[in-house]
Amino acid sequence: MRRDVAIHAVVPAAGVGARMGAGLPKQYLTLAGRTLAEHTLSRLLAFAPIRQVVVAVAEADPWWPELSVARQPRVTTVHGGDTRAHSVRAGLAEVLARDPDAWVLVHDMARPLLRLSDMQALLDSCAGQDDAQGAILALPVSDTVKQAGPGALIEATLDRALIWRALTPQLFPAAALHDALTGAHAGITDEASAMEAAGWRPRLVPARADNIKVTLPEDLALARFYLEAQRQEGLAWRFA
Ligand code: CTP
Ligand code: MG
Repeated sequence: MRRDVAIHAVVPAAGVGARMGAGLPKQYLTLAGRTLAEHTLSRLLAFAPIRQVVVAVAEADPWWPELSVARQPRVTTVHGGDTRAHSVRAGLAEVLARDPDAWVLVHDMARPLLRLSDMQALLDSCAGQDDAQGAILALPVSDTVKQAGPGALIEATLDRALIWRALTPQLFPAAALHDALTGAHAGITDEASAMEAAGWRPRLVPARADNIKVTLPEDLALARFYLEAQRQEGLAWRFA
């Protein structure tokens, strides 16, 4: 990845939040007075290396146009699809139309607590390396990990040292990722798995544990806790 390469962000935000069951998509729930979407985007927009943030929203989403951040000059809106992979591809098509050589940070709208330092670590892991294969933020597991067999009986205990949880952002060349996601099957649940299937070996970059994905109702309390802890640390995100 060339040090002067153009970096764009693609943010899939076309999900319905079925597991949250809130009556509106979870990215529009409020955390400390702002929607999750605004928290997430304020961080991406505060990260100087990102030129443009492409947000993929559902076609009939009435909430997104109500947010002033949707009209921010560095934010572009596209329509997402039925699966996360479709939504990411729609965003990548927009990036590629502007800049065919760009690299992209793909980040879940549902992860509002991303730190700028984690984004920087991800870029640093590939910057200046001709043979970089992309990278993702990830967390080594701390629990012992079991593999289940039929009837929830333990089949095996896995080597914990080898197991990481995949988070976002995930960093890849936009064109290669677009190709890899074309025709992606149901087992592809993140960008890295599509790239792995295409023969790439992305790097795992250790992330901070507060970069949670808000998925279930109880995650909101955890997000509130982490947000307050980040504020106590003095972290703040401003963008022009
Ligand atoms: N996403 C998307 N397009 C889809 C499905 C998901 O852009 N067709 C986005 C979500 O909006 C979210 C991110 O992908 O920002 C991660 O997905 P997830 O946490 O599963 O969100 P939802 O699909 O909305 O939640 P659920 O699976 O509980 O319905
Ligand atoms: Mg989902």
